[in-house]
Amino acid sequence: SPPPLTIAIDGYSACGKSTLARALARRLGYSYIDTGAMYRAVTLQLQRSGVDLDDESAVASTLSETTIGFRPTDNHVLLNGVDVEDQIRGLNVSNMVSQVAALSQVRRAMVDQQRRMGADGGVILDGRDIGTVVFPDADLKLFVTADIETRIDRRLSELLSNGQEVRREEVAANLKERDHIDSSRADSPLRMADDAILLDNTHLNLEQLVERGAELVAQIRTPKR
Ligand code: CDP
Ligand code: CDP
Repeated sequence: SPPPLTIAIDGYSACGKSTLARALARRLGYSYIDTGAMYRAVTLQLQRSGVDLDDESAVASTLSETTIGFRPTDNHVLLNGVDVEDQIRGLNVSNMVSQVAALSQVRRAMVDQQRRMGADGGVILDGRDIGTVVFPDADLKLFVTADIETRIDRRLSELLSNGQEVRREEVAANLKERDHIDSSRADSPLRMADDAILLDNTHLNLEQLVERGAELVAQIRTPKR
C-alpha cells in the first residue's frame, strides 16, 4: 500500500474545509484533525476563566491548565476531558476565537500539539496555517474558497439546522471579521501556500467537492512520468 500522506487543507471561514477533510479522511482511512475546533475550545476555556486577553501571564496560566483532545469514536473535541462540541460552534465563541487565535502563545501551544498528533502521517488537518506553518512539507495542500455570500448562506443554514438562533447579518459580520483578523494578524496569517492548489467550490455541491479532492489525492499518488 502507498505510504501514508499528510494532507493540509486551509482557507477562509465556512468554505467547506472540514466537510472535505472529514470525507477524504473517511475514504482514505486517515485521521482528521479539526484545528479550528482546538482554537474554539481554548477560547471557551478563556471565556470561562474570565481572563483578560491582554494579560499574557493570566493567559499562560490558563493555557497550562488546559488540555485539548479529540474523542476517537466521534472526533468530538474534548476540553479537559469533557465533550464541548455543542458549546464551541455558536456565535459567542465564534465572535472571540480570532482574537484568541492571534495570540502567539496560544498558537505555539496549538501548533506543537498539532505536529505531535500528525507526526506519523496518514492524516488530514484543516485550518488556516496548516500548509504554511504546521506542516509546510505536507504531501498535498489544498486552499479552499467560495464566494462570501455563499459562505454566509451555508454557515447560516448549518447553524439554524443545529437549533441556534442567529440572524444572517450576525453570521455575515462574524465571517467577515474573522476573515479580516485571520488574514492580517502578525503571527501565521491566513494565506495560500505557494505550492497549494486552489479549490473554489462556490458552484460545487458537497459530493462534487469531495470528488474533486479525491481526484487531487489520486493524482499525487500516481508517479509522474
Ligand atoms: O469553521 P470555520 O471555518 O468558521 O472556523 P474554524 O476552522 O473552526 O476556525 C475558527 C477560528 O480559529 C478561525 O477563524 C481562526 O481564527 C482560528 N484558526 C487559526 O487561527 N488557525 C487554524 N489552523 C485554525 C483555526
Ligand atoms: O470547515 P469550514 O468552516 O470551511 O466549512 P464547513 O463547515 O465544511 O462547511 C460549512 C457548511 O457548508 C456545512 O454545513 C457544509 O455542509 C456546507 N457546504 C455545502 O453545502 N456545499 C459545499 N460545497 C461545501 C460546504
